[in-house]
Amino acid sequence: MRPPPCDVWWARTDWLRPEHLTVLGAAESERLRRYRYPADRDRSALGAVLLRAVAARALGSAPGAVAVDRSCPSCPGSHGRPVLPGTGLYVSTSHSGAFVVVAATRAGPVGVDVEEEPSRLGTDLRVGALGPREAAGTTDAAGFVRCWARKEALLKAVGMGITVPLAEVDLGPPGEPPRLRRFPGARPDQVYVTDLPAAEGYAGAVCVLAPGPVPVRHHDAGPLLHSGLFGEPSVTGGPVLSGGRVR
Ligand SMILES: CC(C)(COP(=O)(O)OP(=O)(O)OC[C@H]1O[C@@H](n2cnc3c(N)ncnc32)[C@H](O)[C@@H]1OP(=O)(O)O)[C@@H](O)C(=O)NCCC(=O)NCCS
Repeated sequence: MRPPPCDVWWARTDWLRPEHLTVLGAAESERLRRYRYPADRDRSALGAVLLRAVAARALGSAPGAVAVDRSCPSCPGSHGRPVLPGTGLYVSTSHSGAFVVVAATRAGPVGVDVEEEPSRLGTDLRVGALGPREAAGTTDAAGFVRCWARKEALLKAVGMGITVPLAEVDLGPPGEPPRLRRFPGARPDQVYVTDLPAAEGYAGAVCVLAPGPVPVRHHDAGPLLHSGLFGEPSVTGGPVLSGGRVR
């Protein structure tokens, strides 16, 4: 039997509007206030908003009513992997450059990653981050960032984040479909990783802890972000938050 699909929702950072912020919880708003750079804050804000919108759509709820647990396993902070307790829906979010992405599925724990290509590929980056099979097939920044996105998607699916040496997670050369041979945090036959069709200059990957292949469906998040889920648009139609306020 095929596993349930994984839905991947794509947004651009500058789609964030002031009315979107009204659905965030107190801990999410508090975290946003602590960002130093407005662009980073906007990306994170849109990730949190889109995650709530996607969950609300799947659960038949309202974005502000979705319970999102972001507990960190290592400290009392609220910056860990997003979990929707008791729903059976698994979610993950990532943001980089101009893009924000959210993945949601009932197939199993999920991790998604989108990464902007580094402007140059230093040898130090390659040595520290790539496993032997990956390094052998990586000759440029595009290949490197593809390997990186695959690893990060996997580490987010298992909930570890980058807490293990990245070179230990070897998913194979960037020119071949990702394949995990061994990893202490998950059984390779229970791990499905695939590349996402990211824009020029970006790479993306999604990982679901389920026997693959998991069907991946892509969605433009624009209509969802401008739907009735967020009430009336603001009078100014306001730009993104850069320079603006966080409630
Ligand atoms: C998760 C992690 C890989 C994200 O890296 P990144 O490339 O900077 O960011 P991305 O945009 O791809 O993903 C960010 C999202 O990952 C999610 N996330 C955070 N921790 C996560 C974890 N352990 N597992 C899965 N997802 C996680 C959050 O939703 C986060 O979004 P937010 O910061 O806007 O809330 C990185 O932050 C990490 O390794 N964190 C764990 C480190 C840790 O445990 N530190 C202890 C702190 S006390």
